Amino acid sequence: MGIAITGWGTALPDKVVTNADLEVRLDTSDQWIVDRTGIRERRVGGTTSALAIEACERALVRAGRSGDDVGLVVLATTTPDQTIPASSASIHHALGCRGGAFDLNAACAGFVYALVTVDALLQKGGGRALVVGTDTLSRVTDHDDRSTAILFGDGSGAVLLDAEAGGAGPLVLGADLGVDGSAAGLLFAEVGGTIQMEGREVFRRAVRAEIDSITKVLDTCGITPDDLALFVPHQANVRIIDAVNERLGFPSERTALVLERTGNTSAASIPLALCEAADAGRLRDGDLVLLSGFGAGMTWASAVIRWGTAAPAR
Ligand code: ACO
Repeated sequence: MGIAITGWGTALPDKVVTNADLEVRLDTSDQWIVDRTGIRERRVGGTTSALAIEACERALVRAGRSGDDVGLVVLATTTPDQTIPASSASIHHALGCRGGAFDLNAACAGFVYALVTVDALLQKGGGRALVVGTDTLSRVTDHDDRSTAILFGDGSGAVLLDAEAGGAGPLVLGADLGVDGSAAGLLFAEVGGTIQMEGREVFRRAVRAEIDSITKVLDTCGITPDDLALFVPHQANVRIIDAVNERLGFPSERTALVLERTGNTSAASIPLALCEAADAGRLRDGDLVLLSGFGAGMTWASAVIRWGTAAPAR
């Protein structure tokens, strides 16, 4: 069954926190943050459900659909609004969707995990699904810890997958999903606690995991980086993205970046960058797009998708 992305949308909180704002209350500097991460500002505020609903509404408007046309909502998040129930339940209700809804926690790799899962479900059962990556990491950040407080922001990005839109092939042409639970202690937050991270080790593992995972996916699809119109990496640190690009021989001009303005928004970062690229007219029907993320778990996920509202057969 053909699956296509027919709608997409984003949401960011209004409140902007610049590096200059952080300089006032932390022992840090704009220059250190920009040099070591590439981040200049981040957006902070709101709830996971409210941001996700806003992004999903925009995706539905773009596709000319309403919630009633949607039979599944999958929210990728590590920061649900409550422990019980899943935040996807309130998103599903607010949008007036049909069918089911569930949350998926694969940290910063969550959106790719969700997209791959939903593409497979729609291929079997048809219909339409909203896949939304949303995190409000500011709620689990220790704002006095300069090693993490400078990194994180809040946001949401959503896509509408449609098996009825006339696409002739699957959306996902190849994927690699992985996790290494032995490294869970490198990046975690206890229930009710804040994020603890061994940044240097996470950085090292992130570069290695992304390169290995992307290489596997490109091999599976029988393509090279030259065949890709766009690379949409998880936006954690521009030095991680540069290291991956350098190793793959992929040009930075064909890489989607929002990190400078959003910080690390975890599960939202890949859909935010993908949606902004689509809004900017950087994607055309049939383009091959590489998505790749890594995060707490440690999880990683890479996928090559064929962009287009009426995807041609493989
Ligand atoms: N301002 C100034 N100095 C700082 C700051 C800061 N905000 N933070 C740390 N430093 C200092 C340290 O104290 C250290 O000082 P020392 O040399 O005197 O001991 C020095 O800068 C170097 O510290 P490192 O931790 O080695 O700095 P590094 O270059 O590794 O950058 C960073 C830190 C930005 C956190 C980086 O390691 C990183 O990006 N790691 C990966 C983060 C990531 O990708 N997370 C995964 C996803 S998140 C998720 O899943 C929710």
